[in-house]
Amino acid sequence: MTPDIERAVALLRRGELVAFPTETVYGLGADAANASAVAKIFAAKGRPADHPLIVHLPSAAHLSRWARETPAETEALAAAFWPGPLTLILKRRPEVSDAVTGGQDTVGLRVPGHPLALELLQAFDGGIAAPSANRFGRISPTTADHVREEFGGRVPLVLDGGACPVGIESTILDLSRGTPVLLRPGSIGPADLARVLGRVPETAPQADAPRVSGSLEAHYAPRTPLALVSSDGLLFALRNALVAGERVAVLAPTAQAITHDLVTWKQVPAEPAGFAHDLYASLRALDALGCARILVQQPPAGEAWLAVNDRLRRAAAGAGEDDET
Ligand code: TXA
Ligand code: MG
Repeated sequence: MTPDIERAVALLRRGELVAFPTETVYGLGADAANASAVAKIFAAKGRPADHPLIVHLPSAAHLSRWARETPAETEALAAAFWPGPLTLILKRRPEVSDAVTGGQDTVGLRVPGHPLALELLQAFDGGIAAPSANRFGRISPTTADHVREEFGGRVPLVLDGGACPVGIESTILDLSRGTPVLLRPGSIGPADLARVLGRVPETAPQADAPRVSGSLEAHYAPRTPLALVSSDGLLFALRNALVAGERVAVLAPTAQAITHDLVTWKQVPAEPAGFAHDLYASLRALDALGCARILVQQPPAGEAWLAVNDRLRRAAAGAGEDDET
């Protein structure tokens, strides 16, 4: 065991917080079996206590310690996608703490696909409750520096695993309702799930999942107002901003179209995985410039872009607000 992992396990056992990398985003972890440790996550994030957390497991063999029912699809999904960016919502065992589940009868479980996360989980040999390691309503962190920016010294240990390879949060699939329901799109898409399920999962109407904080409109938001625009709309909005003498930031999959002192242009990859990988780090960097607005060139519609468009829509809905709804 490396000294860092040893220290992380010791902290978790003492009921302290440890931030760690996953393949999606960094998590702010606590011993999921220790309600007062879990309470520290909510305090650090400023997150309402009725928002449930994902419990991260070292392997699918741990499922039955947390879930009282595992429907037929569970095993095949776990075999196909774990370790990996898929969270399964299952009926919880009675001893799972309300602090983790937000008092719901279900629990969110996943085995993350990051070597450092797995090393930590295997050494800890238990469940680690971890939301994304950001203050409530803010952009999820994809590097250890982002986590330090969010919490300063408040988190005793941040394990540094470099930049997260996926860059957006896991796909959440609810298996507790009799039929699989997609609660949050992610890099594992409906077609990937359908290959294992034999059918495309249903999609939850927003109103159906009020306690899934990732489903609140104003989430993952920068402080700078953010507008989603078409490629034509981008040039129009840029011209207007420059006429008004405003500083603007642009996030677009195309090369810089305007060179101007007032314009900062960040080009991101033009395919979904690359766009997702760069999205949060780019938004954070642009947010720090103090521009009047961030203009994001909207990617195409279509399933390949589902998760990226979902996060962009939420970022636009919540941007520039001090708090989320
Ligand atoms: O990729 C991820 O999922 C990252 C990494 C750290 O694993 N975690 C993450 O956690 O995004 P968080 O807390 O920021 O988002 C987890 C989402 C929330 O929207 C939460 O409401 C939902 O999972 N969730 C957790 N348990 C649930 C449950 N029992 N029923 C419905 N939604 C649940
Ligand atoms: Mg989050």
